[in-house]
Amino acid sequence: MNEKNILPQEEVDAQQAYIARLCAENDAYAAETGARRQAFVLTFGCQQNEADSEKLTGMAQAMGYALTRIPEDADLIMVNTCAIREHAEQKALSIIGQYKHLKAKKPELLIGVCGCMVTQEHRKDDIKHRYPYVDFVFGTSSLHRLPQLICQKLDKGKRVFCPEESAYQVAEGLPIHRESSYRAWVSIMYGCNNFCSYCIVPYVRGRERSREMEEIVKEVEGLVANGYRDITLLGQNVNSYGKDSGYPYDFADLLERLDMIEGDFLLRFMTSHPKDASRKLIDVMAASKHIAHQFHLPMQSGSDKILRVMNRHYDTAKYDATVAYMREKIPDVTLTSDIIVGFPGETEEDFADTLAMLEKVRFDMLYSFIYSPRKGTPAAEMEDQVPPAVKSARFERLLAVQNAISLEKNQPLVGKTLRVLCDGVSKTNPALYSGRTEGNKIAFFEGFPADTGTYVDFQVDRADAFALYGQKQSQ
Ligand code: 5AD
Ligand code: SF4
Repeated sequence: MNEKNILPQEEVDAQQAYIARLCAENDAYAAETGARRQAFVLTFGCQQNEADSEKLTGMAQAMGYALTRIPEDADLIMVNTCAIREHAEQKALSIIGQYKHLKAKKPELLIGVCGCMVTQEHRKDDIKHRYPYVDFVFGTSSLHRLPQLICQKLDKGKRVFCPEESAYQVAEGLPIHRESSYRAWVSIMYGCNNFCSYCIVPYVRGRERSREMEEIVKEVEGLVANGYRDITLLGQNVNSYGKDSGYPYDFADLLERLDMIEGDFLLRFMTSHPKDASRKLIDVMAASKHIAHQFHLPMQSGSDKILRVMNRHYDTAKYDATVAYMREKIPDVTLTSDIIVGFPGETEEDFADTLAMLEKVRFDMLYSFIYSPRKGTPAAEMEDQVPPAVKSARFERLLAVQNAISLEKNQPLVGKTLRVLCDGVSKTNPALYSGRTEGNKIAFFEGFPADTGTYVDFQVDRADAFALYGQKQSQ
């Protein structure tokens, strides 16, 4: 393995050869039947999974498949799974269960399951024994092997269970099909070294490895040149970017370099870890042209005792100091966070500390989660698990406190005019168009098809805890 954990070019070339073979076969099929084979990719979980799925669809397209959103029409289905909480796994398994009927109707249908859930051996076994119509299974270390796995299945006829690589690597140069023509995900690093005691990610995504700065710069320059307006840099802990490979630059340096790219676009990033969100990073943000004044900084708990058991390596005082510095340097910053409710050993008092921190810090928005034990993580083995009814009751109380704060944070925006990147007709509210402000708040307004993917000036008439409502200003 090379020092920088980059997948060797020969390996990328080998996959390209499999792609070329499948493409020729699929072209021949289309010429013969007048219909092109179609691929459907279903994604669960976080933005990293969305980004991975864009590579899966990119490879599928390069292999000569048309893309479809209708599983019944597909000749190739891939389910990209998540393992962060039990619920995500159960949802994926239930949908994979439904595909049994599709396979019965169309035996030549290929079904693959990949991603975090099946990187766990016990889930790989579940698929092997309980879902015999699934053709191939591959974990997060083997994403780039998709073309090879399909060829292997077609040639040998047997189901393929791809073993996990012993070393996870960074694959450059894979085809990619981006879902949007104006918002883009750019992975800057993969994996996590932190081992927070509740979290499955380090077990299913391996150790941290960073892409080289020049690769990222090239990718972002290409996106900006192609009209992308909103670019989010992704990593489980972007603040440790570069450290794993001994690069002479860190995350703040990367941001500073990307900020030099000319154009009308915003840069975002996630996720930051409070233990190493540095002042240097905040200074770079404050001085930048393109970095959105938005920060997602997962706190997880407001109890120092729980933070210790979570293995988070910061306390509430350190968290507070980072927020204070950020608000001093970037007064209009939109701050969001993640909270886990009902971590093992969380007492009423610990929970009260979390509520007190919410009142103190006053996040614009919160992503809150009920603690879900994950097999193989230390927290799942802890004795003092919180009963489900207590977890749910605390969760409801947390939401009530946060909703009131979110409303108070949104209210002062009424009457203001904000720049909003329009996402077209809203999925949740189809009578209106929706978009995102620089702070990543959702805005609803009456729009036109041509607004999609462009910036509109949006005047806020009304706000609730979850969104802003108003008018598009004529330009
Ligand atoms: N249970 C509940 N929430 C979890 N998260 C991570 N692991 C768990 C778990 N086992 C939450 C954390 C993390 C977010 C992405 O998911 O808050 O920041
Ligand atoms: Fe999970 Fe912690 Fe890594 Fe985030 S930093 S992915 S919560 S282990």
